[in-house]
Amino acid sequence: ATHKLLLLPGDGIGPEVMAEVKRLIAWMNQNGLGSFETEEGLVGGAAYDAEGVAVSDATMARALAADAVIFGAVGGPKWANVPYEARPEAGLLRLRKDLGLYANLRPAICYPALADASSLKREVVDGLDIVIVRELTGGVYFGEPKTIVDLGNGQKRAIDTQVYDTYEIERIGRVAFELARKRRNKVASFEKRNVMKSGVLWNEVITALHAREFPDVVLEHVLADAGGMQLVRWPKQFDVIVTDNLFGDVMSDIAAMLTGSLGMLPSASLGDLDATTGTRKALYEPVHGSAPDIAGQGVANPIAMLGSFAMALRYSFGRLKEAELIETAIANTLDKGLRTADIKSEGTTVVGTRQMGEAVIAE
Ligand code: NAI
Ligand code: MG
Repeated sequence: ATHKLLLLPGDGIGPEVMAEVKRLIAWMNQNGLGSFETEEGLVGGAAYDAEGVAVSDATMARALAADAVIFGAVGGPKWANVPYEARPEAGLLRLRKDLGLYANLRPAICYPALADASSLKREVVDGLDIVIVRELTGGVYFGEPKTIVDLGNGQKRAIDTQVYDTYEIERIGRVAFELARKRRNKVASFEKRNVMKSGVLWNEVITALHAREFPDVVLEHVLADAGGMQLVRWPKQFDVIVTDNLFGDVMSDIAAMLTGSLGMLPSASLGDLDATTGTRKALYEPVHGSAPDIAGQGVANPIAMLGSFAMALRYSFGRLKEAELIETAIANTLDKGLRTADIKSEGTTVVGTRQMGEAVIAE
């Protein structure tokens, strides 16, 4: 089958790291490792400059028609003063919303060669391989009312509302259990049922879903604060962690620092399974932003971007072997001592974006 990809490089280092994905795709096409058809579009500041919006309707339509969207990064000081609705981030938010991407998957993988770059001790992170599944479209970031009320006595009141419906918890839970089945078959569900009603419902829905559809998966309920503690004490005890939007935001940033540099972290955002085609709407992007401080220098680390493409192979196209091939190539390249500047250490060889991309392909 031919896989239709929409590439949205964006701003800053986005196009620089996307160039390495294009190189990899071309190599795979030439070597019979898949048949990829790519189209390119504008997003973020680049789209604003050319089209006056952060993502145009035409680009949105192509995103909806593609099998997967591969996204670079958006933003930068150049667009600090554009109208709020047209700010670069609005492009990413619209893509997430219109594609219905409610499940954010962030793997935290610690390559042995980089274990010393972690903020934790080598033995705690060496060989770490966990995935945080964060609910992305509900919870306290979106719940209404959301407001600041003037109480008139010199006091104000800030109100955010945590809202979760059964169906939202069920669908994110299903993503986590299905993922665990393809891994080490373990799910830890983080909530705070001891103090939050949404935690009570979260726990109830996950428990029922597990009993009904996934009894073969090992499920553990963890209070989120204790879970955060465990995540830095002994992260290797986890396989898949599933949690709400707010806790997921915090936990995934903590997990990021277990593994070293931002330039290493891939992510996937998935929507609903289409029962007839068996596919999901999906967007794959590195966790990092457009890095204006190093943009245009050819020094950005392309590994997060390449890893995001590997996730597309795994989750959108079921090409597990090819995904593993890329991940092994990355590990081997690091083992050989090649580093971009963000992950350099004593005794390693510092290379640029393109050399790193070429080295991974050579591996
Ligand atoms: P950032 O992730 O762009 O950069 C933070 C630091 O990490 C910088 O020192 C940067 O040089 C470094 N870094 C990031 N990616 C790297 C890579 N691949 N290789 C080597 N070093 C790397 O975050 P920052 O500076 O807070 O934001 C810069 C711009 O990016 C802002 O406009 C922000 O809004 C936007 N942004 C966009 C995101 C997206 O497109 N999903 C996510 C985060 C920020
Ligand atoms: Mg965050």
